[in-house]
Amino acid sequence: MALSSIVHHDAPDFGVRTPGTSGLRRPTREFQAPHYLESFTAAILEEAVPKEGATLVLGGDGREFCVPATQQILRLASAWGVERVIVGRDGLLSTPAASHLIRLHHATGGIILSASHNAGGVDGDFGIKYNGENGGPAPPLITDAIARCATSLRRYAILVAEDLPLHQIGRHHLGAMQVDIIDPVHDYAELMESLFDFRAIRALFTGGFTMRFDAMHAVTGPYATDLLERRCGAPAGTVIRGTPLPDFGGEHPDPNLVHASGLVEDVMTAGRYDFGAASDGDGDRNMILGRGCYVAPSDSLAILAAHLHRIPGYADGLVGVARSMPTSRAVDRVAAALNIPCYETPTGWKFFCSLLDAGRITLCGEESFGTGSDHVREKDGLWAVLCWLNILAVSGQSVRALLEAHWAEYGRDYYTRHDYEEVSTSSGEAVMHSLRDRLGTLPGFLVSGRTILAADDFAFTDPIDGSQATAQGIRILLSGDARIVVRLSGTGTRGATIRLYLESVGRGTPSVEDDVQHELAEVIRIAHEITGIEGQTGRSEPTVIT
Ligand code: G1P
Ligand code: ZN
Repeated sequence: MALSSIVHHDAPDFGVRTPGTSGLRRPTREFQAPHYLESFTAAILEEAVPKEGATLVLGGDGREFCVPATQQILRLASAWGVERVIVGRDGLLSTPAASHLIRLHHATGGIILSASHNAGGVDGDFGIKYNGENGGPAPPLITDAIARCATSLRRYAILVAEDLPLHQIGRHHLGAMQVDIIDPVHDYAELMESLFDFRAIRALFTGGFTMRFDAMHAVTGPYATDLLERRCGAPAGTVIRGTPLPDFGGEHPDPNLVHASGLVEDVMTAGRYDFGAASDGDGDRNMILGRGCYVAPSDSLAILAAHLHRIPGYADGLVGVARSMPTSRAVDRVAAALNIPCYETPTGWKFFCSLLDAGRITLCGEESFGTGSDHVREKDGLWAVLCWLNILAVSGQSVRALLEAHWAEYGRDYYTRHDYEEVSTSSGEAVMHSLRDRLGTLPGFLVSGRTILAADDFAFTDPIDGSQATAQGIRILLSGDARIVVRLSGTGTRGATIRLYLESVGRGTPSVEDDVQHELAEVIRIAHEITGIEGQTGRSEPTVIT
């Protein structure tokens, strides 16, 4: 073993660095600046990792800077005194796989390198986040402490050592620290195999069922190839854009109607395949498409709630469900029919984790293409895809038939999200301030023939530990079962992003052919009247509609 020694570096003042809903995300170039990654990692170690006996899981989504960052973090961890680090080969681990490994190995926690669905490459974004021993994102108490520490930290220690051969599976040593480089896919794939009926899914493919999974040149490529093509017998070529690339091929690895447009064209518009799915940079998001139809994430959550008991891993049924506040209320009606609790939490997975840990819920999800269960403590893209495949296999129905049957039984929540990206921070805040100032005066107001029934700024008290989260977004309830939600994104890295969520419950016989934007036109008009987004931002159109 090469001789190694620990040196101390001064850390420049990088200002306040507060992790958002999913860790710290900044432009890659900022992370590449001397001491930037190092001092933030040192703050994580300082606040979350004991100096003795710690085991960490480490990996990322393969974006630019992941490999050098992994090497540096290993050197920092060794200097800190970490006993063992479990690293995915080539520094790769999807976020759900990292969550699983933390739980499987009873690790102290994990460091995940990703900026999720944000673009990568030198001109894109990079990110880092810490997950605790339950496998979930660190709670606000810890992330706040990390932020304070990163702001005040002036020195950190790092081991002087050569890079480790990250491509080489096996046991290595870095100073006194043990480093186990593992196959990033194997344990996660085994977990999936323990939950789903792979024989039924295999039979589906043998019967000629066709699908495309778009890995968007991000981390799920190797996972999807192993699970779908190898273990479930889907034909080679089912997984497209399956090789992880540092810049994701120059595109946003964001599985939505805009960024996965090729898949949308193939499956939804041209109807070339029975099923289509995509996942994001770090593998925690999912988009589901059927031949000629799109499954809105809020509907996907509701349909999974109604059918999950048909999957072996969930045969005992659901103890409860949860959705983030902006997610449509479709799942609430399924929970009511199943007579199980349904929790409404602020945006961000960490709010589900406390309910999952306490055994209050089995299934949870967000409108932002995130769905998951108590199998890990992150949302899980491929898990959601396997859920759909398993349900399609045992029901023998098409995606369209499942959707329309669901709507016929429970009603349909027409739902859309309009994003105003990269508006100035001041105009984003002005929209929110002005709404907050007027909240008390809104109820009873008549706008375009609808009455405002209630308006508030969503606040949440965790039913398990009593912790509180306030100012989580404006909710405006309208007559006719319509709802408008407005909040600012916590994950953007440039300016502010206003998210406007619009929904209305329709009855009768909804069909996949319905034009959602048309159905919601009136609610959209009312939202503009109430929020004044156009006047404050100068934008007449959203940048992304999902
Ligand atoms: C977005 C989504 C949110 C999700 C988060 C992390 O956060 O809206 O549901 O939990 O990404 O994937 P936002 O940018 O809205 O704060
Ligand atoms: Zn993600």
